[in-house]
Amino acid sequence: MRNDRTSAIEIGEPLRFAHLTDAHLTDPRVAAVSELCNKRILSYVSWRRRRRFLHDPVVLAALVEDLKTADADHLAISGDLTNLGLPRECRDALDWLLNLAPAERVSLVPGNHDRLVAAPWEDTVGLWARFMASDADTNDGPVCFPSLRVRGPVAFIGLSSAVPTPPLLATGRLGDDQLARLADLLESTRRRGLFRVMIIHHPPIPGAYKWRKRLLDADAVQTLIRRHGAELVLHGHTHRITSHRLQGPDGEAVPVVGLASASSTEEAAAQVSRYSLWTVTPRPDGYFGLVHESRRYDPEVGGFRRDPDWNPLPGD
Ligand SMILES: [Fe+2]
Repeated sequence: MRNDRTSAIEIGEPLRFAHLTDAHLTDPRVAAVSELCNKRILSYVSWRRRRRFLHDPVVLAALVEDLKTADADHLAISGDLTNLGLPRECRDALDWLLNLAPAERVSLVPGNHDRLVAAPWEDTVGLWARFMASDADTNDGPVCFPSLRVRGPVAFIGLSSAVPTPPLLATGRLGDDQLARLADLLESTRRRGLFRVMIIHHPPIPGAYKWRKRLLDADAVQTLIRRHGAELVLHGHTHRITSHRLQGPDGEAVPVVGLASASSTEEAAAQVSRYSLWTVTPRPDGYFGLVHESRRYDPEVGGFRRDPDWNPLPGD
């Protein structure tokens, strides 16, 4: 990550940013029994039996090391920093974020694991407010989503689909109020000539993921993008690379791109730990150039390398 440039980037200059997701970086073994007397107990059992073997902090540390050399101006993170959303985990995740990059160089949204239950905001995900809030927000209260962080030519629009759900469900929901504000924000940022990047944890593609893990208002998001457009949608949640398209107002294809977990121990190409580097370049005609680079973990060398075999952009 660059530490000295983003605030100085003008709207007409290129911006290079990274995207990672689903780090699941925290260890919930310290959980007190009282903290598990709710839906968290099921997720805790799942973590003990299976999920803890699917994520490795060593892999995540290798990703962060690689990211330091990537020359990125900004970083988008699409949720699930934690496993159970416990206050202790959220504090650990805050420490990780603070070591990762200055808050003004990160645009973060929460994931369903970060909001498993209706825990107090200020003790849990609210600790990350400085990484999530809009540029214009000056207080430390609950973040009003969608958030807006403008860096050079890019408008990072953060959405929160993370809502507590009944046991065995991991669905997401934006809700009518957030959707109404999203419509206004997409329109105002379009008028400003910005490249609009939506960041959301759940994939906003109807039927794209398991029924019990779907975004409940994916149809509404689809309608908003058809009406107001967007240039790129980034998500997590599926723990695998995915590439879809939504239709914009002029029939253009809006890329919707999901990534594998940043700490994944899987070796299959779809699920191996990876992150993306995106470069947005304004053009004189008012449109933008967009270039994608995927970097994936190589267990043989214990580090990350460029993966030319996956590019989710049409025509590339
Ligand atoms: Fe996840």
